[in-house]
This record gives sequence, structure tokens and C-alpha cells, in this order.
Amino acid sequence: MLDLKEISYQPQTGEKKIINNLNLKVRENEIILICGNSGSGKTTLLEIISGLTNPQKGKITWKNKILSPRQRRWLCGVVFQFPERYFIGTTIGKELKIGHKSLREKNIEIVLNKVGLKKLNLTQPPEQLSGGQQRRLAVAVQLLRNPSILLLDEPTAGLDWSMRNDVKNLILDLKNKSTIIIVTHEPALFDGIPSRQFILEKGEIKNFVKEIYEG
Ligand SMILES: Nc1ncnc2c1ncn2[C@@H]1O[C@H](COP(=O)(O)OP(=O)(O)O)[C@@H](O)[C@H]1O
Ligand SMILES: [Mg+2]
Repeated sequence: MLDLKEISYQPQTGEKKIINNLNLKVRENEIILICGNSGSGKTTLLEIISGLTNPQKGKITWKNKILSPRQRRWLCGVVFQFPERYFIGTTIGKELKIGHKSLREKNIEIVLNKVGLKKLNLTQPPEQLSGGQQRRLAVAVQLLRNPSILLLDEPTAGLDWSMRNDVKNLILDLKNKSTIIIVTHEPALFDGIPSRQFILEKGEIKNFVKEIYEG
């Protein structure tokens, strides 16, 4: 379990706390959906969980052990908003291999299968993929690192209707295989995904919205 206890964060440049005494428990292999308006602190929360931002107060544990920010960077795979903007590989194959000294072709194949990108021509540039496929590729890049927790920041942002469904299906494909935390200002787009849903408001998890699991 990932346990966030009384987390508060105020940037040096900010006048008020972005995250304010936040508590959240995430079980292994569950999907958590955190909904909040623009500016509610969603991205900041993901940065804190993944060790990119260090809160002034609070404790973060994984499997009952306190983790340093550096350890959390290893633990988490973050897919930032509009991940396709940050692709630097000239081909899909190169994009997947970034940061890996050696990577078995088999591992690439397994991960591409997991994200539903089978039989891709890896020598084509990532831009040739559809919007939904590019998001899948961004998730694949993270999965190759084998993260314990996958964090998705507004995964449907900027996609048209059919592509949004593509992303939803991707998340459904990953369920029960990874611990996934999604933050979004469009929760309705994730209807049908078995998850626990929360609202983030003014840096606090305000209430527990619903728990949707298949019967
Ligand atoms: N480094 C920073 N310094 C000052 N204010 C910040 C900083 N980062 C984010 N903010 C502010 O904190 C609030 C929450 O930001 P963010 O986490 O990006 O929200 P969301 O992802 O929900 O839109 C916003 O009002 C934003 O302007
Ligand atoms: Mg954001």
C-alpha cells in the first residue's frame, strides 16, 4: 500500500499551500481516480508522489517503509500531460530504448503488447502514430522501467472522442496489473473503469466519491 500522511506543500515562490494536509491510501493494483478543477493541485500531487517535488510536511510510505524522494522516483512511472510533446526518439524503437543501456527485444515486445501496440513498425517516427497510440507509447516507455506505481496526468487531455476511448481501453487493459493513479478534470471520461474516486479541492482530498468495482 502507498500511504500519504498529512502532506503539505507550498512552493517557495507561492503565497499559499498547494497541497494542504492531504491523506490518501492506495492499495496495490487498484486504480485511483483523482478529480479536480484546473489549479486544484493535481499535477503537484503527482510530482510529490513521484519524488519530483519534496513536501515540507508529511510522510509517504510504500509497503510500510518510508521512502526518500529518490526512491519514489524509482518506484513511480509518470506519464505527464501531453507526453507526446516530449518524445525525443527519432523512431518509436529509439524512444523506447532511451535511458536503457541494454534492453531485450523480448521486453519491448511484452510491453508493447501490454499497451495494445502490437505489430508496430518500430522504425517509423512516433509522430506517425495516432493521438491515442502516442499516449500508449508514452505509457510503454514508463512500463519498460517496471514501475510499481503508474501515475497518469490528464491522460485524455487534448484527444478527440475516439482517441479518448482508446486511452480508456488502455487503462482497462492495465487494470489488476499495476497500481495506477489518474488525475483528471474530466472524470466522466473514465466511467466504466473499476476505481476508487476522490475529489481534490484546494489541495485537499475533500471526499470519497465512489467505489466502482465489477460485480
Ligand atoms: N512552482 C510553483 N510556484 C507557485 N505556484 C505554483 C507552482 N506550481 C504550481 N503552482 C500553482 O499551484 C496551483 C496548483 O497547480 P497544479 O498542481 O498544476 O494544478 P492542476 O494540475 O490541478 O491544474 C495552481 O494555482 C498553480 O498556479
Ligand atoms: Mg495539471
